[in-house]
Amino acid sequence: MTDRLTIRRPDDWHLHLRDGDMLKAVLPETARHFARAIIMPNLVPPVVTGADAADYRDRIMWAKPKNSKFQPLMTLYLTEETEVRDLRAAAEIRLITAVKLYPAGATTNSQSGVRDFRNVMRVLENMAQIGLPLCVHGEVTDAEIDIFDREAVFIETVLDPIRREIPELRVVMEHITTRDGVDYVAGGGDTIGGTITTHHLVINRNHILAGGIKPHYYCLPVAKREEHRLALRAAATGGDPSFFLGTDSAPHTDAAKLQPCGCAGCFTATNTLSILAHVFEEEGALDRLEGFASRHGPAFYKLPVNEDTITLIKGDPVTYPTQIETGDGPVTVFDPGFPLHWRVEE
Ligand code: NCD
Ligand code: ZN
Repeated sequence: MTDRLTIRRPDDWHLHLRDGDMLKAVLPETARHFARAIIMPNLVPPVVTGADAADYRDRIMWAKPKNSKFQPLMTLYLTEETEVRDLRAAAEIRLITAVKLYPAGATTNSQSGVRDFRNVMRVLENMAQIGLPLCVHGEVTDAEIDIFDREAVFIETVLDPIRREIPELRVVMEHITTRDGVDYVAGGGDTIGGTITTHHLVINRNHILAGGIKPHYYCLPVAKREEHRLALRAAATGGDPSFFLGTDSAPHTDAAKLQPCGCAGCFTATNTLSILAHVFEEEGALDRLEGFASRHGPAFYKLPVNEDTITLIKGDPVTYPTQIETGDGPVTVFDPGFPLHWRVEE
């Protein structure tokens, strides 16, 4: 029985760090184990220009624990007003690693997102030319489309047409939650990758809704049926380099979650690696955890793999705090609902 596993230090290819007091409190949770993370730009107001990204990166570097080598990989929030010149300049000096597309209204702080995709095609063509990847929140927002179908409809009506028109554009379909997403990414060649979150490997929609509503399991895209969770597990643990870890760890205070209209997001930064080791072991795929968490992402982004390693150890159950304290109030840590035995050796 394996009880030790050493892997290249992992990266998180989709992370929300927020700002101010919240940033200060949540950043150490990621920086403890991860070398790099793609930082989501959905602040209020969003990170739309190169100057915004430079300022935000400075605030992250400032909030970082001393001695931490954590490196934030910045993104711009694509709007219909995004200027090609500004974006190209930010990419040239490697200030940004990707651009994020939110359909307007799809999720937390996405009001400034894209309403008419025709209006961003010129920007996307420029990104294809310079090899700058596009990260997409893959859900349509039409009120008539059922929330559980929004990912599949997005692929058909938005993502696939964009990729047919600009085949060289490199796209990451983020936090995929359906078999449709898995199949689309797996069959999409080397210009598309898909990130999978920790929590979508663990929960299906029953976990949110059966036996009482669980606001801490509510995130977007919302968890789907069990068959979709199983497809995600097969994709994450199957060794296909198109799939890599993007935790989508998305902290909201309990006060903001526990509302008649509560915020979407699961905060998984604290215990993600313990949960992943558990899931990969269950699937008999511990030897593939390194690919998913540490190798496939850098390969897609054309970045080097991290030089150093972390070691996971299996032993007595590990406990994590139920909540972490922040200057804005407590944030609840994702509860996988089963005991965890793997921990990162400190
Ligand atoms: C994210 C957030 O809170 O910023 N929420 C979430 O449920 N994942 C936004 C997002 O990535 O959709
Ligand atoms: Zn997110």
